[in-house]
Amino acid sequence: MPLRHFLRDDDLTHDEQALVLSRAARIKAAPFTDRTLVGPEVVAVLFDKQTLRTQLSFSAAIAHLGGYPMVVDGKLAQVGVRESIADVARVMGREAVAIVWRTYGQDRIEEMAAYAQVPVINALTDDFHPCQILADLMTVQEHRGDLPGKTLAYLGDGANNMAHSYLLGSALAGMHVRVATPADHQPKPEILARAEELAAAHGGSVLITDDPVAAVADADAVATDTWVSMGQEKEKDRRRGETSPFARFQVTTELMGHADPEAVFLHCLPAYRGYEVTAEVIDGPQSVVWDESENRLHAQKAILSWLVEQHRAGEQP
Ligand code: NVA
Repeated sequence: MPLRHFLRDDDLTHDEQALVLSRAARIKAAPFTDRTLVGPEVVAVLFDKQTLRTQLSFSAAIAHLGGYPMVVDGKLAQVGVRESIADVARVMGREAVAIVWRTYGQDRIEEMAAYAQVPVINALTDDFHPCQILADLMTVQEHRGDLPGKTLAYLGDGANNMAHSYLLGSALAGMHVRVATPADHQPKPEILARAEELAAAHGGSVLITDDPVAAVADADAVATDTWVSMGQEKEKDRRRGETSPFARFQVTTELMGHADPEAVFLHCLPAYRGYEVTAEVIDGPQSVVWDESENRLHAQKAILSWLVEQHRAGEQP
């Protein structure tokens, strides 16, 4: 059995995604029943970028599973600078049963996975944020029921990690996924093509538009994200200034009025009220962002324990 990783949303099949989501729901209902990491086994958790939720939720997830979270500060480790990614992977793979990494280029985490010999989980790269999308899908399922056939609209930066992961993760779930974004912030063509392929295979669809109203029309879930992702700080004035290309895509109460009356509002956080979303929406009755944030814990316990189980099964003689 090949070693499995979770580097991008479509590293899971449709059925595996559903299985991980139902495992997450089971774990949420009975938080301390899954003890996959008892020992405690060590999981290495590295951060090259800022974090709050991800450090909290992975540390808690690993502890709940009976393991020990070995949190590594990327500024100290300087992976790929002080020593090669391959050497770091070889070292960590001997001590940890899994590696969780938040970093920049997707090529970096792919290289880690190529050498680690234990499962590697993407805790956000420039291209994808697949753990967040598992939590989001879990949240949509809790509030709106079965995912296939549901519509998720994302507004804002169509070229960032959240847009890409919504495209792949929602299409994989058989949902209709719509991205409203300016013409010069389009998703990467190869990721869009992959999302279209997944949607066609699983009964969903993909729409990229520059019309926010068309995107949210009758949608079951409306999502947004910061207009300035980590690593883009130098572009802050252009992205968030008075002539922001994203201004038309702000999620307002008026815009939410075009979605299904039962629609939920999602945001991976951190949120910037008055930019990508108004306070009235994110702090209002349709917002499920605190459930979404909590669900990071349950979804990550599910993907981590499932991957470790898969790896152990593959190692059996
Ligand atoms: N697009 C954002 C997501 C933060 C969780 C970023 O990369 O900073």
